[in-house]
Amino acid sequence: MSKITIKDGILTVPDHPTIPFIQGDGIGADIWAPAKKVFDAAVEKAYGGARKIVLLEVLAGEKAFNETGKSLPEETLEAFKEYLVGIKGPLMTPVGGGIRSLNVALRQQLDLYTCLRPVRFYKGTPSPVNEPEKVDMHIFRENTEDIYAGIEFMAGTEEADKFRAFLKDEMGVTKVRFPESSSFGVKPVSQEGSERLIRASIEYALKHNLPSVTLVHKGNIMKFTEGGFKNWGYALAEREFGDKVFTIAQWNELKETNGKEAADKAKEEALKAGKLLVKDFIADAFLQDILLNPQDHSVVATLNLNGDYISDALAAMVGGIGIAPGGNINYNSGYAIFEATHGTAPDIAGQGKANPGSIILSGTLMLDYMGWTEAADMIREAMEKTIVNKTVTGDFARFMPEAKQLSTSEFGNTLISNL
Ligand code: NAI
Repeated sequence: MSKITIKDGILTVPDHPTIPFIQGDGIGADIWAPAKKVFDAAVEKAYGGARKIVLLEVLAGEKAFNETGKSLPEETLEAFKEYLVGIKGPLMTPVGGGIRSLNVALRQQLDLYTCLRPVRFYKGTPSPVNEPEKVDMHIFRENTEDIYAGIEFMAGTEEADKFRAFLKDEMGVTKVRFPESSSFGVKPVSQEGSERLIRASIEYALKHNLPSVTLVHKGNIMKFTEGGFKNWGYALAEREFGDKVFTIAQWNELKETNGKEAADKAKEEALKAGKLLVKDFIADAFLQDILLNPQDHSVVATLNLNGDYISDALAAMVGGIGIAPGGNINYNSGYAIFEATHGTAPDIAGQGKANPGSIILSGTLMLDYMGWTEAADMIREAMEKTIVNKTVTGDFARFMPEAKQLSTSEFGNTLISNL
């Protein structure tokens, strides 16, 4: 079996790479059937049969539990490590103790620090906003830190009591409003963790010739965690990318020393010279700005929780979770798992109603990551054509007058005929 390998941060992809995949629970089986066909057809067409993806099923979720007694068998993790690049359908969150979420477990155990969510508009997609075509953003959500680290102590437990005593006695913290009945959560945000995510976002912007990176944070309130993210980000941009970027931190400095006019002029010249603009936005204002001025934002680098909210808000503007793709990537080790971003949709599982768009477009991110962009572009164009022709699944059809409603597999076949 041919394996994708990595050396000095650069992937080597054989013509017939083995790609582990998790089918997933609920609608996982529904969406995978057409997705496999679409990947095969596009790769075949783009490379005249010289290349092919060899999908290797690995188990996780309900299917894994039924067959092995474990929701996330060790062999599955090993396969993702061995083959580097994989793809997965949705997984139900296991009931009962143990792993809190299989998705979070996969991200943490493989240290997949970037959650990449490109959000763009496909013509014809029903949208709740007036000009959805202005949305073209690439979200880099930090995936391993922040309040998501899972360090929480429930009110009334011995742990919470200990933690409260530590805060009061050792740290002199007297600000907790209702100490006796408080649960506590810890929000670790590191310089290393912030820098590797922001570095990846800047490299991505430069590679794809995109105009800006917006650092989204809540540093006005959380000065050392979210504010740290912003400050470390600006410092890294200037230190590591020098001449290739112009930052708003530089603009601020120039404004202080030489006045606003000089700062504006320097910015204008930098942008004219094709430099990447690195700026920042407070998270709440950002959620407003994506509705008012979405064209002003391109690559977005942000912390874990902000990224969670922002990804869903943006996805809703361009068609919702049925077609929003995602990838979890460690650009250093090369490990990457692309995924449908929706859940298992138990209400429609097995009924042939699910939109396979999310897993198919996640496949295009995977093909991009592998450098097989011709096949990826072909799928994206066919996706747009299929939606423009109003041949869509029920989640879209109900908002599209005169649309022809297709089943999950019919949608896949129609997309293939549009390749
Ligand atoms: P969900 O995303 O499964 O469903 C929310 C709504 O969206 C439902 O009405 C569903 O029918 C619809 N929907 C979702 N995907 C669709 C598609 N491809 N086409 C058409 N309609 C679609 O979210 P919910 O109900 O909160 O979660 C169900 C299960 O999925 C839970 O166990 C949850 O933990 C898990 N989950 C897993 C995720 C993952 O594996 N990445 C992400 C989110 C939830």
